[in-house]
Amino acid sequence: MRFTRRFTRIFIILCLIAVFVTTPILLFSSHRLIHLGSDASKEFVGDLSILKHRIEVQALNAVQQEEVENLKEPILDVYRDGNQISAVSLFTIDKNDSLGQPKNVSLAGNNVTTHDTKKESQQSLPEETLATREKALEKPRPKEVQHSQNVQSHPRRALDERVKEIKDQLIRAKAFLNFAPAGSNSNFVKEIKLRIKDLERAAGEVSKDSDLSRRAIQKMKAMSATLSKASRLFPDCSAMVKKLRAMTYNAEEQLRTQKNQASFLENLAGRTTPKGLHCLSMRLTTEYFALQSEEQKLPNQHKFQNPDLHHFAVFSDNVLACSAVVNSTVSTARAPEKIVFHIVTDSLNQPAMTMWFLSNPPGKATIQIQSIDMFDWLPNKDTLQKQESLDPRYTSQLNHLRFYLPDIFPSLNKIVLLDHDVVVKRDLSGLLRINMKGKVNGAVETCLEGEPSFRRMDMLINFTDPMVATKFDVKSCTWAFGMNLFDLQEWRKRNLTGLYHKYLELGSNRPLMKAGTLPIGWMTFYKHTRAIDRRWHALGLGYDSGVKLNEIEQAAVIHYDGVMKPWLEIGLQKFKPYWKKHVRYEHPFVQQCNIHD
Ligand SMILES: *[C@@H]1O[C@H](CO)[C@@H](O)[C@H](O)[C@H]1NC(C)=O
Ligand SMILES: *[C@@H]1O[C@H](CO)[C@@H](O)[C@H](O)[C@H]1NC(C)=O
Ligand SMILES: *[C@@H]1O[C@H](CO)[C@@H](O)[C@H](O)[C@H]1NC(C)=O
Ligand SMILES: *[C@@H]1O[C@H](CO)[C@@H](O)[C@H](O)[C@H]1NC(C)=O
Ligand SMILES: *[C@@H]1O[C@H](CO)[C@@H](O)[C@H](O)[C@H]1NC(C)=O
Ligand SMILES: *[C@@H]1O[C@H](CO)[C@@H](O)[C@H](O)[C@H]1NC(C)=O
Repeated sequence: MRFTRRFTRIFIILCLIAVFVTTPILLFSSHRLIHLGSDASKEFVGDLSILKHRIEVQALNAVQQEEVENLKEPILDVYRDGNQISAVSLFTIDKNDSLGQPKNVSLAGNNVTTHDTKKESQQSLPEETLATREKALEKPRPKEVQHSQNVQSHPRRALDERVKEIKDQLIRAKAFLNFAPAGSNSNFVKEIKLRIKDLERAAGEVSKDSDLSRRAIQKMKAMSATLSKASRLFPDCSAMVKKLRAMTYNAEEQLRTQKNQASFLENLAGRTTPKGLHCLSMRLTTEYFALQSEEQKLPNQHKFQNPDLHHFAVFSDNVLACSAVVNSTVSTARAPEKIVFHIVTDSLNQPAMTMWFLSNPPGKATIQIQSIDMFDWLPNKDTLQKQESLDPRYTSQLNHLRFYLPDIFPSLNKIVLLDHDVVVKRDLSGLLRINMKGKVNGAVETCLEGEPSFRRMDMLINFTDPMVATKFDVKSCTWAFGMNLFDLQEWRKRNLTGLYHKYLELGSNRPLMKAGTLPIGWMTFYKHTRAIDRRWHALGLGYDSGVKLNEIEQAAVIHYDGVMKPWLEIGLQKFKPYWKKHVRYEHPFVQQCNIHD
């Protein structure tokens, strides 16, 4: 009990800090994206120094991610949120640069040649934002801005690693201290306390590696040993500690660099939803832990595995987005009592997600919330990280979870997978009745030339590779994720998860495809995809794609693919009402968190 309470308290504090951390990143991202994508850019363009400053912080984060020993959790993963990541992906840093020597480039002008534009754009080309991105690249100015930013961040990266490591150790040690179960090995607790004191005293306020004393280095080594011991003593804690540590560390970094920018932040803070999203998550989490454990259970669990019902899956860590998906699906359904929603999120967001649906039950529908961390059978994340990308969105397990649907739902035969950035506008029971004719994946096609959604296989898959060239037809039709019907029986029969692993493995040895789920999805479901009527799924609401209003009116599901998500300030105003209709703005927490219509 005491442990739980303490845990809750710490969690809340860290969440608070997380709000501070993410706000600037998101503020910045929206800032930039507006800059790239819309007319409203003028008022934002003004202060380039702030822009650069932020970028530096982001670059630092990326470096920590790589350099700090043991820190395997991608930091941005901790507060991942579709849009944030898509935004961040625009700054994906070339892996090689961060490890090599700082490059000597002028920051003054646009004559920067260290980055190969093409390579960079390929590397960070997010599947859903292809069009936006291409548009952005056509405009010369933003591209250049982006370049000088990337370059500017190099020189700071390699500096003062030791100091950073010491700070990191202190955070880890303190986190362990807080998480050590009550009544656990008291000698060890004493040891950790002593190490913290020693290290703090020895390192003092030093901010450069060159100022560190020998004593400090010794203390650092001792701490390192103690920390390894800690992970052995409390193996259960270490995953959580890792995540929290990443959060705290970032928080300190950011708070430090942002003191000067308080007024700028204040100006923008009121206008951003993402801050509100984190606030909401925090509120819900607090509420959740105040419940008795029997009150924490969602009702109708006997329906979860019933194959005769209509099953929908959403993999997301965004409570508000999920609430809109669920509300829109249920409120347009002719038989809501048959609907079972399966939301899979991460362990940090599971309490909030559960709390939301406990206090806002989805009518007669059933809902299940799971945490991806409970799926012990899921292969190691390292496989994914072999995909050459620092963008956590590409390597995020939550995204790749879609390739394990038959394993997550062993007793189900069919499931509809929805992205969290969709709104359902019509009853979907007809979708579940579609005759799949032995195919595994039902999806809308994206191979109509001239359409904004147009994609060709070789846009994301490397057809110079002989294996690809012989196995796939470059002219075969492409299709979209976002709303897919999967026949899980056929999937199991054909062992497509095994095939997915094979391609993932091949792709880790040579450049077969771009990172992300779409190209590998195209390969995995090649010849196993059945085209469904385009009106089931209208794409393109997340970027200025020119999607027509009558297309939206007709569609059963609309999809805000692209970076301009409806919950962001930069979301396209003309498309927002479809989403807003399904958000409970009157909910007290939503109001308290300043999320407004
Ligand atoms: C990174 O740089 C090293 C040497 O500087 C080079 O050998 C290697 O191929 C580069 N890797 C990538 C992915 O560019
Ligand atoms: C970097 O630039 C500075 C100033 O332009 C110059 O003095 C220095 O020699 C350069 N260093 C390298 C390695 O090119
Ligand atoms: C950029 O490079 C061109 C030629 O390479 C040069 O004429 C121009 O002055 C440079 N601009 C800046 C800002 O350095
Ligand atoms: C495509 O694959 C070929 C052969 O594996 C490789 O040489 C080439 O570099 C790849 N191209 C890209 C753009 O990755
Ligand atoms: C699926 O394929 C993988 C790799 O190809 C293989 O290891 C696995 O045993 C297969 N599973 C089934 C059920 O056939
Ligand atoms: C959906 O949201 C609307 C508006 O907030 C609300 O009135 C309605 O009860 C919700 N329906 C379900 C099934 O959640």
